[in-house]
Amino acid sequence: MSMATPTRTMVVKPNRLTNNSYVLLFILFIASIISTTHAACSKMDQHSLLSSFDIASSSLNWSSNDCCRWEGIICNMAGRVTHLLLPSKRLKGVISPSLGNLTHLSHLNLSHNILSGHLEVGFFLSLSRLHILDLSYNFISGEVPLSLPSSHIRLVDLSSNQFNGTIPSSFLQRAWNLRNLNVSNNLLTGQIPSSICFYSSSFRLLDFSHNEFSGIIPLGIGNCSKLELFRAGFNNLLGTLPTDIHNAQALEEISLPSNKLSGPIGENISNLTNLTILDLYLNQLSGALPFHIGKLSRLKIITLHFNNLESYLPTSLMNCSSLTELNLGYNQFEGDLSVLNFTKLTKLIKLDLMNNKFTGPLPISVYSCKSLIALRLSSNDLEGQLQHGILSLKSLSFLSLSNNRLTNVTGAMNILKDSKSLRVLLFTSNFLGEEMPDGDLMVDSSGFQNLSVLSLSRCQLTGKVPIWLSKLEKMEVLDLSSNRLVGSIPGWLGTLPSLSFLNLNNNFISGEFPKELCELQAFVTKRDGTLTGHGDFELPVYYQSIHGSATILQYKYISNMPNTIRFRNNSLSSKIPLEIGKLQLLQELDIGFNNFYGNIPNQISNLPNLERLDLSRNHFSGELPASLSSLHFLSSFSVAYNNLQGNIPLGTQLQGFNDTAFEGNPGLCGFPLPNECQKKRPGDTTKNREDVDDTANGIPWLHISVSLGFIVGFWGVCGPLALSRSWRFAYFQFLSNIVDRFVC
Ligand SMILES: *[C@@H]1O[C@H](CO)[C@@H](O)[C@H](O)[C@H]1NC(C)=O
Ligand SMILES: *[C@@H]1O[C@H](CO)[C@@H](O)[C@H](O)[C@H]1NC(C)=O
Ligand SMILES: *[C@@H]1O[C@H](CO)[C@@H](O)[C@H](O)[C@H]1NC(C)=O
Ligand SMILES: *[C@@H]1O[C@H](CO)[C@@H](O)[C@H](O)[C@H]1NC(C)=O
Ligand SMILES: *[C@@H]1O[C@H](CO)[C@@H](O)[C@H](O)[C@H]1NC(C)=O
Ligand SMILES: *[C@@H]1O[C@H](CO)[C@@H](O)[C@H](O)[C@H]1NC(C)=O
Ligand SMILES: *[C@@H]1O[C@H](CO)[C@@H](O)[C@H](O)[C@H]1NC(C)=O
Repeated sequence: MSMATPTRTMVVKPNRLTNNSYVLLFILFIASIISTTHAACSKMDQHSLLSSFDIASSSLNWSSNDCCRWEGIICNMAGRVTHLLLPSKRLKGVISPSLGNLTHLSHLNLSHNILSGHLEVGFFLSLSRLHILDLSYNFISGEVPLSLPSSHIRLVDLSSNQFNGTIPSSFLQRAWNLRNLNVSNNLLTGQIPSSICFYSSSFRLLDFSHNEFSGIIPLGIGNCSKLELFRAGFNNLLGTLPTDIHNAQALEEISLPSNKLSGPIGENISNLTNLTILDLYLNQLSGALPFHIGKLSRLKIITLHFNNLESYLPTSLMNCSSLTELNLGYNQFEGDLSVLNFTKLTKLIKLDLMNNKFTGPLPISVYSCKSLIALRLSSNDLEGQLQHGILSLKSLSFLSLSNNRLTNVTGAMNILKDSKSLRVLLFTSNFLGEEMPDGDLMVDSSGFQNLSVLSLSRCQLTGKVPIWLSKLEKMEVLDLSSNRLVGSIPGWLGTLPSLSFLNLNNNFISGEFPKELCELQAFVTKRDGTLTGHGDFELPVYYQSIHGSATILQYKYISNMPNTIRFRNNSLSSKIPLEIGKLQLLQELDIGFNNFYGNIPNQISNLPNLERLDLSRNHFSGELPASLSSLHFLSSFSVAYNNLQGNIPLGTQLQGFNDTAFEGNPGLCGFPLPNECQKKRPGDTTKNREDVDDTANGIPWLHISVSLGFIVGFWGVCGPLALSRSWRFAYFQFLSNIVDRFVC
């Protein structure tokens, strides 16, 4: 915004003036400046100012006599207030209608305050000289005023308030010269005014995003021949993209994500040659990409994920050489990826094609995209081996090729270990039945210097937890679940300084719970994000947080993943080490479906951050420690199918869990279990325990039905993701069970 001086009424043509006149003019000029700064403030304006706001609670010192010298005020020569610039002044309360008496006001900026209440219907009408109006970042509610002021108004920012109701059709009627309108982040409903580009074709910037607008995007947008930016994402807009949008030739950004837009993108869009951002993700768009999209040589960002787009990618797309981000994930695009020539996309930083129907080998030409930082081709039907050329991507930090049909895991890991930039490597569900790479090459290497996140889950790999992992000092998240790993859990895992998420579920691992794991630094002292890499995923990663639950979480930061140890469904057999109490930051412990035995140690109750604890289907005996009820964050808990005895501790939050959390322990009694506790007869205990053992061994049928449920869910992972349209923001809901592993 330009802070135009209020003295510019003095416009004189200087070429006709004599030297003397210059001097005179100069004196006049100085005088005018002095008189401006010293103009006595109009009493009327001073009064209006003082009654407009609750000054007392603000950070303003408006105590002197001359209001033109007050902070945030600029007057004209006549002492009338023209500028009221009070952003971030802790102003609170309602804006009084007396503000409307400042009839000479041209600039009003009240952004970032705590203003609330409604605006009068005719609020702006008397402010006929207003150029700039910024009320953003307040708590103003109610409907927007009936009409903006006169033709002078150029910028209106009402964003980030709580305006509701529809925008009246008269709102823009007088605002002929409006260039910028931002009403984003409110609670506005109804249609985007259909007259929008009818009253003012001077719009440069229109932002309607993050409201509750519905209906279709009105035709007429095409009349806004100067419109550069059009945003209306995160609303409930229906119908197709406006068919006349290609007339708005100056458009540089179209952002309409998270609506219910349908139909094709339309060939016409290729006429918007200045377009740099096309952001339409999370809609119901269908059809193919525009055939001539390659004409849009300025396009930098294309985000079309979560739509129903289909067919082959047009070869012209590969002519969009300015592209930095291309996200076509979660559509139904098809075709052999390796026939596309990515070599012109040298500026590409992020490429995400996950969850489509692409086939063929990994496209070698992608390795020419030297700027690539994040590459995700997961959940397609790609085959073959990873090529050495990938190492020419010197900045590659995020690589996900999960859920394809790649082979030769040893080759792939041997290549990638030399990448110095790689931080996140997701290889879930590939390499079926191969052997875990563990040869000399891997062991001797000092590779994977920066690897923080590794998933080789669901690959049915044979072998052991490989020793080369012990050198990966940056490792934070390690998922080797659902393989066929044997051997024991190596104690050296406890020496990995950053490891905070360890998933070995669904393997054939035996032996004990190694005490060394209780020394894991990341569970003992708080992680410092600055020490363990950058902390963020370059592309959001989808992960099911709770075993068997239908919720998939989207993680944008590694540090937001819960501190987790999962050894579920192995053949581990030992007591829980008492040292477990050291893992102060542990949030999830799942060691269900093993052969652990002994008492549940009291020390578990020392883990103040524990949110999930699953000890089900083991051979734990003894009583439930009453101290468990000190785990205040515990929201998921099971000790089902063990040999536990005695009362469920009375009057504790443990009784708040469902009876399924305790079932299968015939010696256990009390609410929420149906069997009441009876007084023990001396000598009963031993006999009981044997009974329980028999029962525990007789469970396999239930076991099998559970695992069938898992298999159904397993294959459901990517299917329902593509079909479900109930995605909203950070989490996604599904009907089927989904197993716990990296999806992508
Ligand atoms: C209002 O003031 C804030 C804070 O100085 C500034 O960021 C914003 O750009 C101003 N609004 C306009 C429209 O100039
Ligand atoms: C307010 O400003 C006046 C001068 O304009 C000064 O004398 C007074 O001390 C100030 N008050 C506070 C609380 O800063
Ligand atoms: C509109 O305002 C919001 C904040 O309220 C801001 O984030 C957004 O960038 C603005 N839109 C434009 C186009 O400047
Ligand atoms: C496209 O952008 C260029 C400058 O970036 C500008 O000169 C030209 O007028 C724009 N085209 C249209 C149709 O607005
Ligand atoms: C891509 O651009 C080149 C040169 O600019 C042109 O010859 C070719 O026809 C374009 N390809 C497509 C498919 O548009
Ligand atoms: C696996 O990949 C490595 C490295 O690319 C290669 O040397 C080896 O021949 C491959 N093995 C098979 C069986 O293709
Ligand atoms: C337990 O793990 C094995 C090995 O991965 C797997 O075959 C089996 O289905 C798993 N059982 C359950 C209940 O998940």
